[in-house]
Amino acid sequence: MAFDVAKALEERHGENFSLHKEYLNPQLARVLETLGFDRLYVRGEGCYLYDDKGERYLDFLAGFGVYALGRGHPAVKKALHQAIDLDLPNMVQLDCALLPGLLAEKLVARAHDGLRRVYFCNSGTEATEAAIKFARRATGRPRVLFCDHAFHGLTTGSLALNGGKDFREGFGQLLPGTTQVPFGDADALARELRSKDVAAFVVEPIQGKGVNVAPEGYWQSVQELCRRHGTLLVADEVQVGMGRTGKFFAHEHYGLEPDIVTLSKALSGGYVPVGAVLCTEKVFMSVYSSMERAMVHSTTFGRNQLAMVAGLATLEVFDDEQIVEQARRTGEAFDAALAPLVERYEMLHAVRGKGLIIGLVFDKPRSRALRLRWNALEAVRTALFSQMVVVPLFHRHRILTQVAADNMNVIKLLPPLVAGQEEVDYFAAALDDVLRDAHHGTGLLMEFGTTMAKSALRRGGSKQVMAPT
Ligand SMILES: Cc1ncc(COP(=O)(O)O)c(C=O)c1O
Repeated sequence: MAFDVAKALEERHGENFSLHKEYLNPQLARVLETLGFDRLYVRGEGCYLYDDKGERYLDFLAGFGVYALGRGHPAVKKALHQAIDLDLPNMVQLDCALLPGLLAEKLVARAHDGLRRVYFCNSGTEATEAAIKFARRATGRPRVLFCDHAFHGLTTGSLALNGGKDFREGFGQLLPGTTQVPFGDADALARELRSKDVAAFVVEPIQGKGVNVAPEGYWQSVQELCRRHGTLLVADEVQVGMGRTGKFFAHEHYGLEPDIVTLSKALSGGYVPVGAVLCTEKVFMSVYSSMERAMVHSTTFGRNQLAMVAGLATLEVFDDEQIVEQARRTGEAFDAALAPLVERYEMLHAVRGKGLIIGLVFDKPRSRALRLRWNALEAVRTALFSQMVVVPLFHRHRILTQVAADNMNVIKLLPPLVAGQEEVDYFAAALDDVLRDAHHGTGLLMEFGTTMAKSALRRGGSKQVMAPT
């Protein structure tokens, strides 16, 4: 009998967590149960998720940035249905299909003049891997620089560029020739580049881990130093690209002209995995330098038709609905709504980021009584305060957010780019409510304690999940 997805979902409803515990990653299931995030989602639409009890959740994770257009955008859905019904000759492999050409053409048209060619893959980390190989081949140099707090993916090459030790631990020796430099420190970069053996500096224009924004003037120095020393500048736009910061590419804010740009996440419209590497003619042709090398770097699913259709439909929606402009406007609305909370609440020190990548930065309060409370929490575990805010945002207000990085008191918001004033207002009121309790009452502590205690009774122990974003 043909597989019936609706029937399978109905018949096996509720077995989600037990199946994951038995066959997939039991630790993820434990973490979600411990935090009380173990809901049974049955539907997603726009900025919202719905569970089996009919409750609605405001999704400010957006699939770690995938759902720029929200979930189930009708235009992307329609294009994919159409593509399947057309029985397209998918992945012939020894073929130059039309759709990858059309998508590449559209991406190149949005990039700076130097970026002329595109390589398609299936994910962010694959795009990073390609960037590393392309840069080494183009320059003939071995080394690659990356920043502290950087995140470029978790396959072994990308992992070698990870700026936090937790993800790397226990996986043995990674790619040799990689060196970490402090994000935002042009002098440190200059010192490493001087040896002229560095193929690439791989960097996120705004770092996802911690939502770190570089100081004024940094990027101009980066561009100038890379050019002077013959090092390729690789902008990882996997998370911040495609309009999230209020420009199509985040590096446009800083007037940068990277030699290589990586994209993924939002390009799929949330339906089909896709990754893309945009690069200069010179870099690209150094890799594919002869007919013998026509397939020297490739991946089976790389230019698959459904990913290309999802990408083309997504870009069309970007134009039709002026998504980049909307992200910029909604980002400003967040700034306006959150600024009074920074004034009102001592523990909320700042709101940083650009457009719709937003970091809520918590730190030690000034007043003595609150400081005692803060210190007591931090003594239990670093960054416990931000976790204590994420939990009631979810439980009380049904808003999905995340702690921006391990050991960092920053909450990260990645709303869909189609979010508007309604979502901004709802979030600001919810955060106001939670922070009021955190500053003036004991409700929040009680609530967090009860959640943890309940789950400890159920299972014992808890640890913050390492979120790969
Ligand atoms: C900046 C950045 N680069 C690369 C990646 C890796 O992407 P993927 O998870 O698709 O491998 C991520 C994922 O979160 C990311 O945020």
